[in-house]
This record gives sequence, C-alpha cells and structure tokens, in this order.
Amino acid sequence: MKALILAGGKGTRLRPLTHTMAKQLVPVANKPVLHFVMEQVAAAGIKEVGVIISPETGDKIQASLGNGENWGVTATYIMQDYPAGLAHAVKTAHGFLEDEPFLMFLGDNLIQGGVSELVTQFNQDPSDALILLKEVPNPKAFGVAVVDSQQHVRQLIEKPTNPPSNLALVGIYLFSPLIHKAIERIKPSWRGELEITDAIQELLNMDKMVSARQLNGWWLDTGKKDDILEANRVVLDEYATAQVLGKVDNLSQIVGRVQIGAGTQIINSIIRGPVVIGEQCLIANSFIGPFTAVGSETNLADVNIEHSVILEKCILRGIPRIEDSLIGTGASVLRRNSNHHALRLFLGDDAEVTL
Ligand code: TTP
Repeated sequence: MKALILAGGKGTRLRPLTHTMAKQLVPVANKPVLHFVMEQVAAAGIKEVGVIISPETGDKIQASLGNGENWGVTATYIMQDYPAGLAHAVKTAHGFLEDEPFLMFLGDNLIQGGVSELVTQFNQDPSDALILLKEVPNPKAFGVAVVDSQQHVRQLIEKPTNPPSNLALVGIYLFSPLIHKAIERIKPSWRGELEITDAIQELLNMDKMVSARQLNGWWLDTGKKDDILEANRVVLDEYATAQVLGKVDNLSQIVGRVQIGAGTQIINSIIRGPVVIGEQCLIANSFIGPFTAVGSETNLADVNIEHSVILEKCILRGIPRIEDSLIGTGASVLRRNSNHHALRLFLGDDAEVTL
C-alpha cells in the first residue's frame, strides 16, 4: 500500500508564520508536525510515500524530508500548482497512486497511537473507503458523518448548520482506487474546491461501502495558532523526557521532565517541565514554565514564559510575562527599560499582539 501526504495548501489561518514557512513544518515539541506524520506512516509499514507540495513551500518540504530514508521510506514529490482542494490533490497524484488502495494523511494532522490499526483493519476487512471519526463538541466546524450500528457510513455533510451527529472526519483516510471515479463525478464546492467529503459522499451515491472507525485518543489539527499551542501541550505531556545534554549552573533549578539540548547554557533560571529546549541556546535569569518549547540558538534573558512555542534563533529580553505565544524564527522581542511600560515592537504582516 502507498501513502499520500498532503503538504500543499495555503495555510492562511497561520499567517504571519506561513508567509515564510510551510505550516506542516511548524514544530511541536521542537519537531515539525510533518515529521510526526512520516513516523506514523512508516510505523504502519508503508514504504512508498507521495507528498503533495505547493509551488510556494515545496522546496522547504523537500529539504526537510529529503528522499525519506530517515524514516526508511521512499518519498516522491507531487506538485499541485494550485490548492484546489483535498480531492484535487488526490486527482493530481493519480499517476503516482496508480489503481491501488492508499492511505491519505493530511500533513498538518496528528493522532494518538498512529495509523497501524486503521491500515490493518482496511487490509483485513476491505471496503471502498475507511474513514476515521472523532466526537467533537462543535460539529458545525467540521465535515460530519452519520453512521449506522455496523459502523457503515450513511451520510456525510461538510460544516452542517444543523449537525446530524457530533462525529467529525479526521484528516486520515483509506481509499480503494474507486475514489478516483468518484472524484471524476464531483464538481467544485461553493468555495471553489474539489472536496474529499463530496467524493466520499459520491461513493455512497454509487452504492459503495464506506466504513468508519472511531478514534478515542487525541486528534490534533494544527491549522491555527491555538491548535499549535494545544498540540505542543499534548505532545509534551505525552512524550517529554528528562534529558540534560547542555550545562546548568548551580543557581538554576530544573523541575520535572525537561529536555535541554547540547551546547545550551542555563544560568540562574528555573525551568519547570514538561519543557523542551533546543541546542546552543542561552537562558539567563529567566523562568520557563510548563508546556513550552524553545527552538535551537534562541536566547532568553530576564524572561518569564509558559505555554508557548518559540522557534529557532529568537531573542527575548526583559519580558516579565509571556504566555500562549507562538513566535516565529529569528524574531526578537526586546524591552530595554523595565520601568517603562511602553513596548517597542517590530512585527511582520498580520502579526497579532495582545497586551
Ligand atoms: P487545509 O488546512 O484545509 O487548507 P490550507 O492549508 O489551505 O489552510 P488555510 O485554510 O489556513 O488556508 O488543508 C489541510 C492539509 O491539506 C494541509 O496540510 C494542506 C493540505 N492541502 C493540500 O495539499 N492541497 C490542497 O489543495 C488543500 C486545500 C490542502
């Protein structure tokens, strides 16, 4: 079986970060979301992976994944000239997928426990499509499925005004090659995209069998800033380990599960885990609280921060309190005079500051 990972798209909801980087490469616990996806695909025993890329960020995705050998898979890149929808991405990849069943995985989605069981279920009990569903409190914001007692899907509706169920479609699907026929038959939606939900509904219209499996663990869709912070919290909570490779001076205190990369120095600071700090950072006279990830080569001095994601090569100085923040690569937030209440900020397009 092959896999198709979708790493194109516009990423408008993650601007300004996505003006300069691919959203699938935003790190969670200091690892790009797309690397978690590659791990989960490889762990399911899939060796041939097609990666949908866009003209804007395709080179960055390729540089990050290479030929796939880090995960023991072969990566093939497929250019989608315009983000015309998830079903359009499948159509673009038809040549790579050939007429075989495949796993489709949105490159900004992550689930607890991986996809091995889903792939096994599909292989043992084949259907025309197998979708993954998760109960959500706000089904109006998702594609929603109605299933019968045998877990066969009866109906799918994209962002319903009156949701018939609270089961949302997770961004992970298994398809038989019949999906290509269904995609041929659908038209673009009101937003001009070829929707995968419509293609699956078309399979139902064609009297084909679509099965569902419910996910009990967490599902993270990292499309917006708060989603990244939540993903960072959940992943740190589950995977963070205590490991100190850098240097910690006598005046500092490390509490709980804290990972400190090689070449990093911690001076007169308190770090309370779960926290991950990259390599070659300098942390002085600061407090780093739970659920924070600090990228490599970042410097913090006189900073109090928690529940935040800071990317690489940032400088933060003299900030008495930062929380729930997502700070892009190379950003600097400096406060020169601590008696002065005004902050001087130099921010990119679409930046958000809450003071
Ligand atoms: P979305 O989050 O639905 O779309 P987007 O990336 O354009 O983001 P936004 O709504 O913020 O502008 O996409 C889900 C995943 O699928 C994501 O990894 C991008 C990818 N994708 C493609 O590869 N091709 C496409 O045509 C679309 C719509 C998405």
